[in-house]
Amino acid sequence: MTQARHFLQFSDLSREALTHVFERAAILKRRRNAGELYRPLIGQVMTMIFEKNSTRTRVSFEAGMSQLGGHAMFLDSKTSQLGRGEPVEDTARVLSRMSDIIMIRTFDQQAVEALAANSRVPVINGLTNEYHPCQILADVFTFIEQKGSIAGKTVAWIGDGNNMARTWLQAAKILGFKLKVATPKGYEVAVLDGCDYGADCYEAFNDPKEAVKDADLVTTDVFTSMGFEAEAEARRQAFCGFMVSAELMALARSDALFMHCLPAHRGEEVAAEVIDGPQSVVWDEAENRMHVQKALIEYLLLGQVND
Ligand code: CP
Ligand code: NVA
Repeated sequence: MTQARHFLQFSDLSREALTHVFERAAILKRRRNAGELYRPLIGQVMTMIFEKNSTRTRVSFEAGMSQLGGHAMFLDSKTSQLGRGEPVEDTARVLSRMSDIIMIRTFDQQAVEALAANSRVPVINGLTNEYHPCQILADVFTFIEQKGSIAGKTVAWIGDGNNMARTWLQAAKILGFKLKVATPKGYEVAVLDGCDYGADCYEAFNDPKEAVKDADLVTTDVFTSMGFEAEAEARRQAFCGFMVSAELMALARSDALFMHCLPAHRGEEVAAEVIDGPQSVVWDEAENRMHVQKALIEYLLLGQVND
C-alpha cells in the first residue's frame, strides 16, 4: 500500500506546499469565474462523511469535486453503518477501495487519524473538535487576496480557544504571522501538537481590547461549537464582553478586515454592523472554501500541477 498524502491538520502542509495551494486556488478561481472548464478528475470520487452538521463544507466540497470533473457522495452517521458502531478503521478500508479521496467531519481528531491510517487514499479533515484546517486555508487565502502576503501581519482571534483558534495558531507558525488570542479565563487555546509557539507568533490575552491592537485582521467564531451544546448557557455568561463590536473593531488598524467562518450569531459573538459592514469579507471567505479546497484536492491527488 503506497503512503497517501493527507490533510488532517494545517501543519500537514509545508509552507512551500501551502504557497502552491494558494497560488492554484487563485488560478482555479479565475478560471471558474471566466466560465472555463477544468476537469482533471473525470471518473474520480470523493466520499464525504459528516458526523456533525454542515452547510459550507458539504456544498464547497461537492460543488468543487463536480467542477473538477469528479463526483462527491454524502454519508452521515444516521444512515450509514458508522451510526451502528462499525469501526472507523473498517470504514476506511472499504471506502478507500471505492473512492479516490475521503473527507470527514467528526468529533475526535483521533477518529480522523485512525481513518487516515487505514486508508489507501488521501483523507481531508473537514472539522474536528480539535482542528478546522480547510477553513483556515480559506481564511488565509482570503487575506492574501485582499492584502497580499500574510507574513509579518497580525491576526486577532476573539472568543473561544477552539478548533479554529488552534488551527490559526498552526498557520501563524508556518506562515510567519502573529496571532493574538483573547479568551475568557478557562477558555484558552490548549496546544495539542507539542509545538513551541514563541512570543513572536503567539500572544494570549483575557482582554479583547489588548488583542485587537495593531491587528490587520479581527476574527471570531461561535461561543459554543458543535459537540459542546451542553455548555451553551455557561458559555453565554463567560463570553460576556467578547462580542466583536464596532467599538472593538475601531481599536484595530483602520484597514483591518473582519472574518467569521460562519454560521454567525449577530448580537452574540459579532455585532450586525461589523459582520454586515465594510470591513467584513465573510462572503468572499465562504466562497473561497470552494476554490482553495479544489486546489487542495488537486494537490493531494495530482501533486504540484502548474498548467
Ligand atoms: N464554516 C464551516 O465549516 O461551515 P459549515 O459548518 O456550514 O460547513
Ligand atoms: N468552531 C465551530 C466552527 C463551525 C464551522 C464548531 O466547531 O462548531
